[in-house]
Amino acid sequence: MLADLIRNSNHTIVFTGAGMSTESGLPDFRSSNTGLWGQEDPSQVASTEALNKNVEQFFRFYRHRVLGVQDCMPHAGHFILAEWERKGLIQGIITQNVDGFHTEAGTINSMELHGTLQKVHCQSCGKDFGSDRYTEEQFYCPCGGTLRPSVVLFGEMLSEDTFTKAIQETEKSKLFIVLGSSLTVSPANQFPLLAKEHGAKLVIVNREPTMLDRYADMVINGKDIGEVLSEVDSELKMDL
Ligand code: APR
Repeated sequence: MLADLIRNSNHTIVFTGAGMSTESGLPDFRSSNTGLWGQEDPSQVASTEALNKNVEQFFRFYRHRVLGVQDCMPHAGHFILAEWERKGLIQGIITQNVDGFHTEAGTINSMELHGTLQKVHCQSCGKDFGSDRYTEEQFYCPCGGTLRPSVVLFGEMLSEDTFTKAIQETEKSKLFIVLGSSLTVSPANQFPLLAKEHGAKLVIVNREPTMLDRYADMVINGKDIGEVLSEVDSELKMDL
């Protein structure tokens, strides 16, 4: 059925959360037992307050995440999505993830709502650096300013340009597929409803139920995203 929905849509947008990267080896945030926020308090390590008041703890937390991304890589599901874009089966991916794996797997139109761990920038002069600065424990800019990952911290606004582009793509979508998000964090969790309001069909693929399942035209719980994408890809390949 999901393959049929993709075949019959001329503007399909995929929306991914941390559940898209757990099969690459990166933990998500809210899965019971393994989610990151089960071990760390986001307000203490991932907020503007943490950056200003607990900077050593902030550095430790984000260096650990930068090392994690460098040790992991996109899985088959990321590559399937990139291939679907090349074939015109999907028109873009809105992602909450900061691992850069969609781009690394070849996706062109990847809208990173929450920024990226692949880059850090100086709080004072704004200069950009690669995240290897954090790997090498270089946490300060030559100008003396603090280096921080180019991610959106709790308490910060999302990038205007990316947010606007994601709204435009969502409003044009005829099919909106959520992959691996609890849909609990705003404003990102407004996109599925915005798609519905503009007449799109909404599909939610998530191991656990989400708070927006009741608005979805189709919900797939209890299956891994990698398995779902591989099954749908095999079915679509039979069209050739
Ligand atoms: N297949 C399917 N679903 C999965 C898989 C998988 N392999 N792995 C995890 N999941 C599901 C979990 O059941 C969970 O409901 O993915 C969901 C991930 O939800 P969260 O951990 O809340 O991640 P996300 O929705 O991306 O969080 C949004 O919160 O902390 C902020 O900035 C952070 O971008 C993040 C935002």
